[in-house]
Amino acid sequence: MSTVTALSRINELSKDELAMYRQLDPEQLPKHVAIIMDGNGRWAGQRRLQRFLGHQQGAESVQYVVETASRIDLPWLTLYAFSLENNLRRPETEVSFLMRLLRTYLVNNVKRMNENNVRIAYIGRIKDLPQEVQETMQWAAEQTARNTGTTLTLALNYGARVEIVDAVRDALSKIAAEWSGQLSLEELLGKLSEQHISKALYTAHMPDPDLVIRTSGEMRISNFLLWQIAYSEIYVTERFWPDFRGLHFLEAIREYQCRERRFGGLGNTPKAKAVEPEQILAH
Ligand code: FPP
Repeated sequence: MSTVTALSRINELSKDELAMYRQLDPEQLPKHVAIIMDGNGRWAGQRRLQRFLGHQQGAESVQYVVETASRIDLPWLTLYAFSLENNLRRPETEVSFLMRLLRTYLVNNVKRMNENNVRIAYIGRIKDLPQEVQETMQWAAEQTARNTGTTLTLALNYGARVEIVDAVRDALSKIAAEWSGQLSLEELLGKLSEQHISKALYTAHMPDPDLVIRTSGEMRISNFLLWQIAYSEIYVTERFWPDFRGLHFLEAIREYQCRERRFGGLGNTPKAKAVEPEQILAH
């Protein structure tokens, strides 16, 4: 059970983090931050180390960021830890190291998660992960289930396109069951809405991410939460994941707060000289 009360834990931030936090508007903090953790291999390569060591250092960054997120009371933090593509395109030795690292990380950090009131959850094709990994994952989720602070969701064996395909199938089969024998196929398809799909995604119970952070400078989304990030702000830093700490996390939130979110609407443009649309189209 959680050992943490609802008191503010801002004073647990480091001196640098606190200085950065003071630049934020506490009323406008994001509710959900999702991170594409990238650059473990390059971090290791720059130091002439094996890739494994980059991943090991990356696991340290995970814990730093989780604790900072929990200290500022972020409700949802989602980390892209292992994609379906990782599973297919990396050498077997690296995949099996990542699986062992995940288990070690969970076993070593559950106590700290409880001290920080963090609940652990997962999204992805979890059933295709090795049995012993699933068991440790389940254990960590159970040990932290009653915590009420940040929900840390690890995306494992995750791919957004597969998630969407599964969600559409699921939503359609529910609609078909509800209207069984009463509607034509065309009418059934017409009933499918965005809401049906959102409710059938792994993330049905979470708000969509306000902010997506990607480390190591790549300008890609890499099949991560494609549906959910339709209106998210995206922040890319050149820093490699093993060098990313709570301070950099707060820096990303500061940048996010400088953005004007439009959700497909209009921005605050200065007043312009009046021109009729017909006049423009006539040229
Ligand atoms: C990308 O680095 C990172 C990953 C494969 C996923 C992130 C994994 C960790 C941070 C390890 C520990 C995770 C947990 C949850 C304990 P990369 O190998 O693609 O780097 P590169 O692009 O520089 O080669």
